[in-house]
Parts: sequence; C-alpha cells; structure tokens
Amino acid sequence: MVRHPAPSSPSAVAQSFYTRWATLYDAIARRTPGVESVRTEAADALQLGAGDTVVEMGCGTGANLPSLAERVGPDGTVVGIDFSPGVLDVARTRVADYPNVSLVRADATRPPVADADAVLATFVSGMFTDPAAVVSSWADLVGPGGRLCLVDLARTTQSWRRVLNPVFRALVRVTAPPRTRTMRESPTEMLDERLVSAHRTLESRCRDVHATTHALGFARIRAGTVAERE
Ligand SMILES: C[S@@+](CC[C@H](N)C(=O)[O-])C[C@H]1O[C@@H](n2cnc3c(N)ncnc32)[C@H](O)[C@@H]1O
Repeated sequence: MVRHPAPSSPSAVAQSFYTRWATLYDAIARRTPGVESVRTEAADALQLGAGDTVVEMGCGTGANLPSLAERVGPDGTVVGIDFSPGVLDVARTRVADYPNVSLVRADATRPPVADADAVLATFVSGMFTDPAAVVSSWADLVGPGGRLCLVDLARTTQSWRRVLNPVFRALVRVTAPPRTRTMRESPTEMLDERLVSAHRTLESRCRDVHATTHALGFARIRAGTVAERE
C-alpha cells in the first residue's frame, strides 16, 4: 500500500523524519497549549454518530484517535492512515484498548479505503504537493453528505499578531523535515500556499462550512458536508 519511494525523495525523507522523532512529535502533538481544544473542535465538526466510519489521514501518533473511537462507538470504525512506521508504532500503543480502530501504513494521497462517512486530516495538508487534488479525492471518497475536516497551520493574518510571523517562520524551519529547509521557496510560504489550496478546495466541494481560527490566528479549522456535484 505504501509505494517504496527513492531513499532521497521528499516522501522517504518525511517518513524517516517522523519515524525518528515520533516520541518527541507525540509530546508536541498532545501537550502544546491549546492543541487539545483544537482537536476537540475538529472532532465535533465531523458530526460523527454511533456506527459511523471515519478515516484519519496522516494520523501520526494517534492524538485524535481515542476521541474519534469514542464518538463512533463500538459499532463504528476508525481507520488511521500514515506512511511513517515510527508514528504508527506510537499510535498502536495509544489505541490498544480500542478494538474499533485500525491502523494502516499507506499513502494518504491514495488511501486504500473504498467508503467512509467522514475524513479528518490535522496538520497534514501542508505536506502534499497537490493538496487540492488530494482534498478533492477525499470529498469523492466520502461522497455527498459525507463530512470533511481539515486543521492546518499557516502565518497569521490577524493585525498586530503578524509581528509573531517571524517566530512562526523560524519554528517551521526548525521542525520541517530536512531538505524542505533548504528549498528555494521557504517552507513557511509553501505551508501558506498549501493551506489555502486545501481549504479552498474544501470550501468548493462542501456546503455548511464551519471555519474558525485559533492560536493567535496560526491554526485554522475548516469543516463541511460534501455537496452533490453540479
Ligand atoms: C505534522 S504530522 C500530523 C500528525 C497528526 N495528524 C497530528 O495531528 O498530530 C504529519 C503526519 O502526516 C504523515 N504524512 C504526511 N504525508 C503523508 C502521506 N502522503 N501519506 C500518509 N501519511 C502522511 C506524516 O508521516 C506525519 O505523521
């Protein structure tokens, strides 16, 4: 399910980066102040019911998985997809007590899932070369009436808070997988562009869109119900 990329490809570099730093990433993913309420709002926005099937794309160490499992209940199914084996090892421990959660090592841009009621992707869209195509394929996966929710980081556009953007830029540079740090385009600009592309696609494919910003404007949640194609 995961095509084995050339060892130096961006995908291989990202897999080895997240595998190597899985434990540290897990602490950041769960303990950063404010992140828990962002995760709760994102899970609420999926409007899951008992028995639903929800897929988390790029699930990482599984910070969202227990709350998704509780929302869909024992008759529902949660599928966590990630291509980095190290983060999946941490996630496996986290969901050991949830028989309704399956973890799959696969490429979230071609998920091996035929059908779902909802898709969640938190802090992942910025890693796709063509986020618009990926988000559109997720809309096709859940189909009309299905739910999509994205959570992503980008520079803030909120008035005086923009003075904090250089700090954000430095953090992104330090935490980005190697090679993305030395690209001609800065990783922060790339993140901004990819967030806009992913979230615009969600807007264009969904109705009843719920959009909020958090963490001084650096974190954006966008969720909606996939509309019928015109
Ligand atoms: C910043 S982490 C976010 C993890 C998790 N969603 C969270 O909220 O903590 C990005 C994750 O996306 C995964 N990822 C990136 N591109 C992927 C792809 N094409 N297929 C599967 N996983 C991917 C990485 O392995 C990593 O675990």
